[in-house]
Amino acid sequence: MSEITTLSIPAPDDFHVHLRQGALMRAVTPLIRDSGIATAYVMPNLKPPVTTTEQALAYKKQLEELAPGVNFLMTLYLSPELTPEEIKKAAKAGIAGVKSYPRGVTTNSDSGIESYETYYPVFRAMEESDMVLNLHGEVPSDPSSDICIMNAEEKFLTHLRTLHAAFPKLRIVLEHATTQAAVETVKSLGDTVACTITVHHLTLTVDDWAGQAHHFCKPVAKFPHDRAALRGVIREAHPRFFLGTDSAPHPRKNKEAAGTAVAGVFTGTPLLLPYLASVLEEFGALERLEGFVSGFGRRFYKLEERHPAPVATRAVIRLKRSEVVVPQEYGFVDDEGEKSSVVPFLAGKTLRWSLA
Ligand code: DOR
Ligand code: ZN
Repeated sequence: MSEITTLSIPAPDDFHVHLRQGALMRAVTPLIRDSGIATAYVMPNLKPPVTTTEQALAYKKQLEELAPGVNFLMTLYLSPELTPEEIKKAAKAGIAGVKSYPRGVTTNSDSGIESYETYYPVFRAMEESDMVLNLHGEVPSDPSSDICIMNAEEKFLTHLRTLHAAFPKLRIVLEHATTQAAVETVKSLGDTVACTITVHHLTLTVDDWAGQAHHFCKPVAKFPHDRAALRGVIREAHPRFFLGTDSAPHPRKNKEAAGTAVAGVFTGTPLLLPYLASVLEEFGALERLEGFVSGFGRRFYKLEERHPAPVATRAVIRLKRSEVVVPQEYGFVDDEGEKSSVVPFLAGKTLRWSLA
């Protein structure tokens, strides 16, 4: 059989991306348009967090100006300010979901939640309005209970099961799964529960981030058998597992500052699809690329029905088997007027596929 040398897929969707604010937003948002993304599902962990419909719509407008044609789906940050009334209003305005961060587990999560039950009236309103609940699935570290970043996701899964049992019609996405346990749990639950998977968690294990700040993110990449489970569920084309990059750019100096490596891997660049084609091919799943990036998520989020993309973005993206070297950095001028940069995933490495 001859080797595939070109690929054409409908413009993909990224169901979890951090586009930041200020100068960093202006630097990274045009790059996702250049990646060929049709829909970007935008995280609300700004400073201050996006907690109202007005804020989300104002943020969306800024993003649209930076990347015309991209279908930006906005989210609100789950916090005590969020009321059932605000949910109804947000749903009417086309806000797609609500993101929950357990307090203190990652970047800008200080306003995160401590207990889910307080939010049951909000979840009820979301269920009624068919909004999606996006869960950062980690519990905070607690040495007295033997909880650390290696088992924080597995320990969280009980909350996912409880929430799904209490709100079986509420669509819930367990974000950026990293463990075999998470994959098995999501599979075992009903059709209203789905899961995003990132490029970096398909690529890395613990050995790759220990001592390598640019591979450090939350949740951290886990064991080889966990990565194998993420790869396996893509190989089997499970329709409730789809791309959410969790692309999370940070200025190089914050990633490399001694003692304070901030969490986040930056994949939201024009090399997004080349990263994906290269890694999926490596584990024998190249023919699963289309469903994973342009099919399953779209269906789960009911895009055609609830959030139709502008016609211009329903393009076809072509890839060719041709090597490309990942740039060392993308430069920009920061909010203080200083020269800064963000380092993309696998900087300096060679990918096997490139955009045609
Ligand atoms: O690594 C991460 N970075 N994980 C998150 O959950 C947040 C993100 C960020 O905003 O930097
Ligand atoms: Zn994220």
